Amino acid sequence: MERTFWYKDAVFYQIWTRSFKDGDGDGVGDLQGVLEKLDYIKSLNVDAIWFSPLYPSPNADYGYDVMDYMDISQEFGGMEIFKKVLDGAHERGMKVIMDLVINHTSDEHPWFQASRRREEPYTDYYIWRQPKRDGMLPNNWDSLFEGKAWQYDDLRKEYYLHLFTIKQPDLNLDNPRVRDEVKKILRFWLDMGVDGFREDVITFISKRENLPNSLLPVVRGITHYSHGPHLHEYLMEFRDVLDRYDCVTIGEAPLLTTGKALEFIGGPRPELDMMITFQYMEGDCFFTEYAPHKFSLRKMKAIWSHWQKALWGKGWNFLYLENHDHPRVISRYGSEKYRVESGKALAASYLFLQGTPIVYQGQELGMTSLRLPKIEDYEDIQTRNHYKLFSTKLSEEEKMERIWKASRDGGRSPLQWDDSENAGFSTAEPWFTVNPNYPQINAAAQEDDEDSLLNYYRLALRLRHELPVVRYGVYREYMPWSDKLYVYERRSKSQRLLVICSYTEEPVAFKAPRGYDLQKGRLILRSHGEEIKDNGFTTQPYESRVYLFQDRRQIVI
Ligand code: NOJ
Repeated sequence: MERTFWYKDAVFYQIWTRSFKDGDGDGVGDLQGVLEKLDYIKSLNVDAIWFSPLYPSPNADYGYDVMDYMDISQEFGGMEIFKKVLDGAHERGMKVIMDLVINHTSDEHPWFQASRRREEPYTDYYIWRQPKRDGMLPNNWDSLFEGKAWQYDDLRKEYYLHLFTIKQPDLNLDNPRVRDEVKKILRFWLDMGVDGFREDVITFISKRENLPNSLLPVVRGITHYSHGPHLHEYLMEFRDVLDRYDCVTIGEAPLLTTGKALEFIGGPRPELDMMITFQYMEGDCFFTEYAPHKFSLRKMKAIWSHWQKALWGKGWNFLYLENHDHPRVISRYGSEKYRVESGKALAASYLFLQGTPIVYQGQELGMTSLRLPKIEDYEDIQTRNHYKLFSTKLSEEEKMERIWKASRDGGRSPLQWDDSENAGFSTAEPWFTVNPNYPQINAAAQEDDEDSLLNYYRLALRLRHELPVVRYGVYREYMPWSDKLYVYERRSKSQRLLVICSYTEEPVAFKAPRGYDLQKGRLILRSHGEEIKDNGFTTQPYESRVYLFQDRRQIVI
């Protein structure tokens, strides 16, 4: 099949269905709710929806523990309603991509249950090991979510590997039958009309032979299962299936550098189309939000610029500020006090970069991180387990302070549709706490306000689609040393974009870079005024402006 690379012109919207919109009145977001909101999603000027896992699941890790890869959870409304959503999205010109979670399944998946009983052909579907002679664990690897990476199974009398929770046993992709299952899953959804996949922790699927002990002091094992020996080979096998469809693949990859990313997305026949790097989430932390530092604009800009330059002409960026694994970005990189303004500056900072941007549900409304008083109020297993690891020297306040900064639940509260009860998310008691700021922050309040963040996103995305320079233009950063302003240019033969974003409430004197005459530019997007003085301006708190320059001399008609 001839590929169109449609994703290069697209903007994605991520739906974490549980918290999006409850359509059947049971307090849990579902696909009926999505169906009702398809026009809203389309109105954002996005072109594709990525659904976090919709498969049947016992929800130990909210869908990332799959029980059946070829069905849709009844909690979300089942297969019939999914097909309506798929058709409804396609009718509106939007694509739909699924989450593909193949590093692990749920322990309640029939494959795992059969594997415990050593029933063929499932015996080697998972990574089982005998206890060591002295009864010790097979190796010293840590789970990323829950203690050690091994759990003893009483039935099979062996340990199984779980890089995430105990309820998420790792699949054995070295077994060709398991890879065949993956290919079946790919075909099943693609034949139904789905347009691609976001591939969960895809760089973990090939483990180093013999599973050696790790010498690392923390996250033991990660260097042995990340980017393992057969990873590229397996992805190429899947590519053979994917090539028959005009679909997109996005690989999620912890600890990803640009060099590593290009191994997947560069070259004449890339294994994947885009990679999700965690570096975009490191503006205020070291690798994980549980190791926080003060937000550094300079660090963030260096990361954005590095990815823009390193992938230029070789690979395609996947751009994001939020997803279901992180607290809300305004509460981290922006300012809750200047919520709307900083939300706009953040939007302009990434929406005009080269790549495919994704907007996470509620980001367009400037939702802030949910902060709950007690650890028992949190739902996420990673959050609860991290809390247990905190030093006993920390006070309760200090522990909760850290949870507020880091918990994934910060970004998982129900979407705030209006100021009615439960934020219009559900008529029943919602499955999870609604952020109490919903009377002020909600979609209905922003709908007709032309200065709202919601309408800023809509306009920014429309402009993105209209301006070829966003797809093709060369990236250049100005004032990289500034810890207050992010200024960049995108330049093509006939168009130049100049993006100026302030990350401070302090006034900053901005002067246009050499070669720019602001008077000659068109201010196509702005958060505040349009005054210009001496070819520059003094910024308002978290001000953002995007200027377009059409170079008439260069336009060939
Ligand atoms: C990454 C997913 O985004 C996250 O939500 C999940 O917990 C882990 N992978 C395990 O599947």
